[in-house]
Order: sequence, then C-alpha cells, then structure tokens
Amino acid sequence: MQTLLVNKTDFADVSIVSYDEGELPDGQIRVDIGPFALTANNVTYMVTGDQIGYWSVFDPMAYDLTKDKAQGRMPVWGYGVVRDSNYPGIEVGRKMYGFFPIAKSMDMQPGRLSDHGFTDIAAHRSGLHGLYSGYSFTDADPSYAKHVDLQPVLRPLFTTSYLIDDFLADEDFFGAEQVVLLSASSKTALGTAYCLKASGSRPVVGLTSAGNKAFVEGTGFYNETFDYDSITDMNPDVKTVVVDMSGNMGVIRTLEDHFEENLTYICRVGMSHWQEAAKVPPKRTATPTAFFFAPDRAKKRIADWGQAGFAENLGRRWMPFLDSAKDWMHVENAQGIEAVLENYKALLNGQSGPDKGYLFTL
Ligand SMILES: NC(=O)c1ccc[n+]([C@@H]2O[C@H](COP(=O)([O-])OP(=O)(O)OC[C@H]3O[C@@H](n4cnc5c(N)ncnc54)[C@H](OP(=O)(O)O)[C@@H]3O)[C@@H](O)[C@H]2O)c1
Repeated sequence: MQTLLVNKTDFADVSIVSYDEGELPDGQIRVDIGPFALTANNVTYMVTGDQIGYWSVFDPMAYDLTKDKAQGRMPVWGYGVVRDSNYPGIEVGRKMYGFFPIAKSMDMQPGRLSDHGFTDIAAHRSGLHGLYSGYSFTDADPSYAKHVDLQPVLRPLFTTSYLIDDFLADEDFFGAEQVVLLSASSKTALGTAYCLKASGSRPVVGLTSAGNKAFVEGTGFYNETFDYDSITDMNPDVKTVVVDMSGNMGVIRTLEDHFEENLTYICRVGMSHWQEAAKVPPKRTATPTAFFFAPDRAKKRIADWGQAGFAENLGRRWMPFLDSAKDWMHVENAQGIEAVLENYKALLNGQSGPDKGYLFTL
C-alpha cells in the first residue's frame, strides 16, 4: 500500500512511502480511499497546517510510516468504501464521504454512529474541529446521488461559498454597495459569486489573473471582472467589501490604496496565492478585517437552524450550482500515485486550470 508524505516546510519535497496494513484492530474499520479531489484549498490546508491543526488529522506515525516529524499528510475530500469492519453497525461495502489522506486505505475508529454517519474518534484527531472528523454515509443523504463525480471537488468549497454569502448578508454587507471577490476563478469564489448573484443583494465583481479573466467572464456569475493589473480601473467611489481567497498582500494593499475609506471590510478566506502571502507585510489600515473559518460559521448556523434546517437552506443553493458546473467545469479522473504527483505539482504552481476538477484513486 502507498501513501504520500509532504515536507511541512517545503511542499514540493514529497515522498511516496509503502506501508503494511497489518491486522485490523477491534472496534475499527478499514476503508479504501477514492476517488478524492485536489484543489488549491488542499494547499492552504498545508500552509495553515500548524495553525489550524491539519497536520494532525492523519497520524503520520500510523503504520510506522515515518519517524520524521518534518513530514505530514495533506488532507483531501473524497469518498471511501469499507473493505473490512470490526465495528458492529458499519458493514463492509458502506460508502462514505469525508476527509482522507492521499493513500490507498485508512483505518478508522468510529464513534457517535448515527443513521447519517459517524465520527473518527482516534485520539490524534481530538483537538480538531468536529467537521473534519465526521463521515457521512452517502446512501443516507439523497443530495449525494446527483453528479457523483462533481461532489468531492465542489461540495466542501461550496459550503464555504454559501456561508460567506450568508455571513455578508447577516452583516448587511458591512455597509458596502458591492462585493469584490479575489481569486475570482477559484471554485470557492465562483460558488460565492453564484450565491450573491442568486440573492441579488449586491453587484459582484471578480478580480483574477489576466489569463483567467475570459474563463471568469464566461461563467456569467459576476457582474464585472477585472484582472489584478487593472484594479485602478474600478470606480473608487463605490463602497466595497472584499472577500479574499488569494491571500496576496500586494493586491490587498493596492485595493486599500485605491478604495481608501470606501473599503468597508476585508473577509480573509484563503491563500490560493500562497507563495505571495508572506512577501508583503499587511498594511496597518483602519479597514476592519477577520479570518473567515467556514466550520465555525457552519456550527453557528446549525445551532440557529438545526441540522435539517441547515441542510435544507444549503441544498437550495447547492443543487442548482451543482447543475451549473457542467457548463464551466470538466472533471478528469485519474488512477495511481504518478497522476496525483503530476497534478499536485501543477496545483502548487497554480497551473491546474480553473475549468477543471481532478479526481484520483491510488
Ligand atoms: N476559510 C475557509 O474556511 C475556506 C474554505 C474553503 C476554501 N478556502 C480557500 O479558498 C481558496 C480557493 O480554494 P479553491 O479550492 O476554491 O481553489 P481552486 O478552485 O483550486 O483555485 C484555483 C485558482 O486559484 C488561483 N491560484 C491557485 N493556485 C495559485 C498559485 N499557486 N498562484 C497563483 N494563483 C493561484 C488562481 O486564481 P486567480 O487567477 O483567479 O487568482 C486559480 O485559477 C483557497 O485558498 C482555500 O483555502 C477557505
């Protein structure tokens, strides 16, 4: 069996290691992983790996993989199928959706079993946000039945998109007249633009690389699109809230200088331009800003609306967005670690193309 280990301080430095599964312990299940998706979000998991705890989702010491604590396993979203079970209540063949390492298989210690899924209660996951240790049975939720290939690519990102729209509306858009989305070609930004446009509350402006501008315009989700070199073409008199998926501090500084006091809030969501993130220190302006952590917002809304209410509200936007994806995204399926590595390297350098979704099985 194989798994991928990444150097935590140099993501291009990877090793493929083999492991022996050994005997499945009592109370555990053994799951075959795949297909799983790879997007820029997975790179951000590594950038914030120590801060948020993503490096401890999967124990790198499991199966005696490595004694080198400098290496870790990047989490990906995808499907898994139970191959062996020593846990009464979860039978062989059951299919689930959740967080996995890039590996052929994984042993899990289920707990909190319900009709809908379970939690992996392994000790090394105890400090993590609950959302990252939960697994859903796909046959228990009809929303998994549609566009099976698109789900691992878009589902975790769209949940964030929906929650950003909900958050901005809840805050009355921080008094802004328009919303500007950075890394507008990213799937998380596309979902956010889709939700904002569907609710019709504020015009949505996309900001992207020159090479991705035509793609962004083609989706029809944005009222206007600019590239990073044309920020000064935007009307500076319009009160603006920025949703930043890029983490590019150079772009943020230009926006601050351009909009001045009309920049009412910066919602920091991601770091797709992760190589740029640390280059320019943030400017100390008066613009209010905060990091948006989707699992915390989801927790609040589940408390407000109940689990079923949350699923219903999210589903109202999710299903039509999922249907729209065939018009702007093509999913490619690939098998084997070499295919993963090739795509992973392109992903690190922002070369995997916004119009594609990638699924892998080892
Ligand atoms: N806070 C949260 O809870 C949360 C949840 C979900 C996602 N996110 C964040 O949202 C961001 C987008 O994630 P995604 O999975 O939706 O991305 P994606 O679809 O894979 O994004 C691809 C786009 O990101 C930009 N990009 C990616 N890598 C780059 C690189 N190395 N250099 C320059 N540009 C690069 C490019 O957009 P442009 O040319 O348009 O800039 C590219 O078209 C990520 O940073 C992710 O962490 C945050």
